[in-house]
Amino acid sequence: ARITLRQLLDHAAENGYGVPAFNISNMEQGLAVMAAADKAQAPVILQASRGARAYAGDGVLARLIDALVDQYPHIPVCMHLDHGNNLATCVTAIQNGFTSVMMDGSLKADGTTPADYAYNADITRRVVEIAHAAGVSVEGELGVLGSLETGIGDQEDGHGATEKLSHDQLLTDPEEAERFVSETGVDALAVAMGTSHGAYKFTREPDGEVLAMDVIEAIHKRLPNTHLVMHGSSSVPQDLCANINAHGGAIRPTWGVPMEEIRRGIRHGVRKINIDTDIRLAITSAIRETLANDPAEFDPRKYMKPAMTAVTKLCVEKFETFGTAGHA
Ligand code: G3H
Ligand code: 13P
Ligand code: ZN
Repeated sequence: ARITLRQLLDHAAENGYGVPAFNISNMEQGLAVMAAADKAQAPVILQASRGARAYAGDGVLARLIDALVDQYPHIPVCMHLDHGNNLATCVTAIQNGFTSVMMDGSLKADGTTPADYAYNADITRRVVEIAHAAGVSVEGELGVLGSLETGIGDQEDGHGATEKLSHDQLLTDPEEAERFVSETGVDALAVAMGTSHGAYKFTREPDGEVLAMDVIEAIHKRLPNTHLVMHGSSSVPQDLCANINAHGGAIRPTWGVPMEEIRRGIRHGVRKINIDTDIRLAITSAIRETLANDPAEFDPRKYMKPAMTAVTKLCVEKFETFGTAGHA
């Protein structure tokens, strides 16, 4: 059944678990993620970016979600808009049956320029007003995601840098977070604390703490009733990168967020964990391997099926690690 982000994350907070939010843009990803939720008996957040909506089309996406919810009536499903950039993208998502929207006002509507506090608070508050009237939850974002290593800010799609940012911009200020939540009324807050989008997060294998856990703890202390969201939470499994490269790919050496660090975040108020890159890597790894082993194959089902199996396996692992399993 469909559930709002607020309902789902309230339950997660009461029971001390986190919920992965998986990005999907096609049928195979949707089917594979739902198969994993069913296996793990876990509630799930399916999220679509603006790019995903443009790729599949709102009509197809909306009906895909309807069908997935019908196929697994016992699985609570939150359908969420990832990185909404203005009022209209949020409203059209609501019209298409999304039960939750993200208004990312940390960046201007172009999706690249860091926005000031006043802009962010104003647009987010307006989205909350409309969404809540429709019974839909809202996630906001304060602070710009990007690499603490290089100071390079994200374009929120993992595709390249904008400008050098200061540590201050790359870490959410706990005091400002408290003010932002009270002024906007968001249900969940994405915070910047060392993660970035895409496959290239860390240039070295993480050794010890890579995220600003003190920032998460400080925000959680001030906002115990606001669910914290970690974007850029893919772990970039080394075996998937190696397998892609072993079959003709060219992924540069890179590391993601260790799963153990996400567990630590969950102990300090992180409830929604965004994962897109790992799913992309799992699919590409399986497809490259299948086609390399059988170059004569040309039926897409023959390589999409192993890709789906790989995604399901990956997602089950996330549900188990984040404590989501068994809570459906
Ligand atoms: O935050 C970005 C998500 O990974 C979605 O990426 O805009 O390429 O669909 P996308
Ligand atoms: P990854 O690129 O780490 O999977 O993050 C996805 C994300 O944050 C989507 O909003
Ligand atoms: Zn994101």
